[in-house]
Amino acid sequence: MQQKAALNPDAHWMDLAMRLSWFTAPTQALNTSGLWFEGGKLNACYNAVDRHLEMRGDQLALIWQGEAADEKRELTYRALHQEVCRMANVLLQCGVKEGDRVAIHLPAIAEGVIAMLACARIGAIHVVLFGGFSAEAIADRIADADAKLIITADVGRRGPKRVPFKKTIDAALTHLSPDQVETILVMSVTHEDVPMQEGRDHLLAPLITAAPDTLPCVTRDANDPLFLLYTSGSTGKPKGIVHGTGGYLTWASFTQNVVFDHREGDVFWCTADLGWITGHSYVAYGPLCNGGTILIYEGMPSYPDPGQWWRVIEKYRVTSFYTSPTAIRALMREGDDVPGASDLNSLRVLGSVGEPISREAWEWFYRVIGRNRCHLVDTWWQTETGGIMISPVPGIIEGEPSAATLPLPGIDAVLLGPDGQECENEAEGVLCMRRPWPGRALSIWRNDELFQKIYLAPYPGYYFTGDGARRDGNGHYWITGRVDDVINVSGHRIGSAEIEDVLADDRDIAECAAIGIPHSLKGQAVVVFIVPKNATRADMLPEHARQIVSRRIGRYAVPEHIYVVDDLPKTRSGKNVRRLLRKIASGEKEGFGDLSTLSDPDCIERLLDATPM
Ligand code: WTA
Repeated sequence: MQQKAALNPDAHWMDLAMRLSWFTAPTQALNTSGLWFEGGKLNACYNAVDRHLEMRGDQLALIWQGEAADEKRELTYRALHQEVCRMANVLLQCGVKEGDRVAIHLPAIAEGVIAMLACARIGAIHVVLFGGFSAEAIADRIADADAKLIITADVGRRGPKRVPFKKTIDAALTHLSPDQVETILVMSVTHEDVPMQEGRDHLLAPLITAAPDTLPCVTRDANDPLFLLYTSGSTGKPKGIVHGTGGYLTWASFTQNVVFDHREGDVFWCTADLGWITGHSYVAYGPLCNGGTILIYEGMPSYPDPGQWWRVIEKYRVTSFYTSPTAIRALMREGDDVPGASDLNSLRVLGSVGEPISREAWEWFYRVIGRNRCHLVDTWWQTETGGIMISPVPGIIEGEPSAATLPLPGIDAVLLGPDGQECENEAEGVLCMRRPWPGRALSIWRNDELFQKIYLAPYPGYYFTGDGARRDGNGHYWITGRVDDVINVSGHRIGSAEIEDVLADDRDIAECAAIGIPHSLKGQAVVVFIVPKNATRADMLPEHARQIVSRRIGRYAVPEHIYVVDDLPKTRSGKNVRRLLRKIASGEKEGFGDLSTLSDPDCIERLLDATPM
């Protein structure tokens, strides 16, 4: 495949596209306007569900498991089809039309996937919002996407805690114009008493029960948007990344198949939240397009005790398990006996995604969970790439600790040096993609200029990933981390500017800078340096700043450490020198290099005296 892709990329891409069921097959891969599979017509829900009805209508499509052993739900492809049709009919009854945006803010319950597929079925564009976003963050995204309908739940469950979903949506609405959201559909998870506004809010369950369980799929063009997903970059607010239907689905389905060596009867458990791209491509679309059985688990990995996840694997005979280094590090701390108590022999492929995995975590995952006999794939990719780009391939390219190894067939990765020239052989540089691939995002919602500026303009002729990488003598890639100001906390992307902007709005803060430093559990932690406007109130600032970040972005972005300082190291042109802040926050006392370019070189001495709070 690698050879074919190199010799005749178009034929390779067309082969991959033919994995899908098209209502009208495309006649070419990439056209001169940069569009994939133009002329092709299809429906993503048809590909994920309907096409399997004949062959595997009675096979399980979706297993949902809650924290208590008896909280579970199993849907065959036939049952999933009925549920999706019902939900789609409800959306139609609520006035949702093709091309409308539907916001989905749900805990990890089956309805999340059902709602996404229902949108796809009627050609509505889903916008899934991560459960950890604050009300303001949700409001920003709803306004940007101009969503009129929201699907949410009364609460989510995280161990003994109840996460208020509907209340957060209500709070989000206070930041929006009153005519923005017309309908809120509420799934009752625990039947919590939540405020419902007459005429606008409706309980979802009775509507679903009453709705017909059939509905034809609409026909979508290959380049019609399938979904928007907001992600953080190094500047500005989070952006609505737009993924198309034909290219994205081709890529999600192909990569899930090849990277996880998908086989008939596989039970695929990807632990990602549906609100992130991994949830889109590998909880929902990828494995379902391939006729797999997906598992969704609602709850925390170590509740009621740290053996919970391993018991779920044993119970459902999970074959493929895809998770994050953060989760692996947390579970590793519990000791080897915990997973040792479960039968994990069903596992065949293990995957890691979202952040660099250390050698130690890789080896533990391989040895203790994979029992030295599973393939372990460390998969590198991004929201914008739609699916996995660089990864081992079981049985062909075996993983090695911390290496993403080789680009998948057709993916043309390059490393660029400081002047933007391509590096040959063993090298370290900025990771870029030379040729386009079908999974690449179409654009940024209603801002194509920004898409061009962020991803295509930095290195003309290339797609710029924002990551650095090293290539070894075998041509294998080792991701070294972001080269821009994106911080990766437990696999969640946070832009430095996002944090700085919400803090700089505050009247007590004169200036601030946010950076990421290594963290043993989270991978990276956010550290913020603040210059107060009014020194007498400085004591209160750390707590105050944490509240601002939690309220305006979400708890996941709250700084680990805050330094209140009287100045920030700046170049003479006034730019914050984050490199120095990173060193100081990491506890380094020397090796700051040439400080003569700073407007005030003495400021470093004073910063070294500051204590984090
Ligand atoms: C990082 C998640 C090292 C990287 C799918 C990328 C990784 C960002 C890996 C995208 C990996 C993802 N090794 N780093 N295997 N996978 N990353 O958009 O910095 O949430 O740019 O997509 O996560 O995060 P995103």
